Amino acid sequence: MAHAKLVWQPPLPAIYRQLSEPELRFRIQDARDRLGPKLAILGHHYQQDAVVDFADFTGDSFELSRRAADQKGVEYVVFCGVHFMAESADILTDESVRVILPDLGAGCSMADMANLEQTEDAWAQLVDACPDQLIVPITYMNSSAAIKAFVGEHGGAVCTSSNCRNVLEWALAGGAASAALKPDQKVKILFFPDQHLGRNTAFAMGYPLEKMVVWDPRQDLGGNSESALRDADFVLWKGHCSVHALFRPEHVDQAREKYPDMKVIVHPECKWEVVQKADMAGSTAYIVKQVEAAAPGTQWAIGTEVHLVNRLARQHPDQKIIVLSDCQCLCTTMYRIDLPHLCWVLENLVEGKVVNEIKVDAHTRKWSTVALERMLAIKGTGNPIGKQQPVGTTVD
Ligand code: 13P
Ligand code: SF4
Repeated sequence: MAHAKLVWQPPLPAIYRQLSEPELRFRIQDARDRLGPKLAILGHHYQQDAVVDFADFTGDSFELSRRAADQKGVEYVVFCGVHFMAESADILTDESVRVILPDLGAGCSMADMANLEQTEDAWAQLVDACPDQLIVPITYMNSSAAIKAFVGEHGGAVCTSSNCRNVLEWALAGGAASAALKPDQKVKILFFPDQHLGRNTAFAMGYPLEKMVVWDPRQDLGGNSESALRDADFVLWKGHCSVHALFRPEHVDQAREKYPDMKVIVHPECKWEVVQKADMAGSTAYIVKQVEAAAPGTQWAIGTEVHLVNRLARQHPDQKIIVLSDCQCLCTTMYRIDLPHLCWVLENLVEGKVVNEIKVDAHTRKWSTVALERMLAIKGTGNPIGKQQPVGTTVD
């Protein structure tokens, strides 16, 4: 039985908890200087500001995967993000590059919602139910390397929230098996593990909700009839982000009532009903770009992780920027990466010790590289989730 490897973060040496922030900053900078060009620090948009201050590159998961692939002559990549991002960085860098996650407890609850055994089981059932159709598996970046490898081995690709639409267009044309696609053969997408990104993107591409079913890995046929599975264009894995699930449609109504001129912009991991009520939806990089391009005085209610929203508010004091809801929309696992952990991994590197290395095994590496490289080769990234009229249907 294939289980995700359990990761356990040993307690930090006590000294790192006793250092003040200025001391930690001094020691981190000193370690960076000593490591020089051997080191690259990558930081996701959701990291706390103190960590972002030390990142050589900040970005969304798509930009950071490109940065990782571009690192030449670097010996160590310290990834300030979550486990699946560090795995992807290990896959995309040369074998000689050592990738380090400062806290091994920085996982992603969404990525944990699909494991390989469930995936293989779902695939076998779907192929049985739809023998005449071409099924193309697509996985969101927020998934384990094992799922990415499965997708690579079965003709599919990875996507991120920046390029999901482009990747789905590629997949609907047959993905890696497009040359073998028979005339009139139906193509079906099996999308892991975020049902919301899959639904929001497919809907924006013009597919009605009736052509999408949800696959619950705890039920036979994912909880669907064979005919519903055959008829569907998209089979969406029953996964979600517990942070973005906190945003609800009434938060959009409340923001509009209180600030009639406010624009609402959300991440596509939010539920379909929220995305439909918003003015715009897109990846973290898309959200950053919209705010950067906006005129002074623009008002925004932003539906994504609180660290990014608060940073944007600080960086753009001439605009009004609030979190879409007053719930604590905090990614607690991202938040585990802090100055003490960063200082600890860097000082170990200075002493020649690699702690918290993220290493993907050879078979997984081979096929997940295929899936990630297919994604990087698909052109036309950065498009948002376009807006369409709601069809009046609600979705769980
Ligand atoms: P991005 O692809 O926008 O970086 O989002 C990643 C993520 O984990 C959002 O929850
Ligand atoms: Fe995972 Fe959600 Fe955190 Fe993103 S915000 S890393 S999807 S738990």
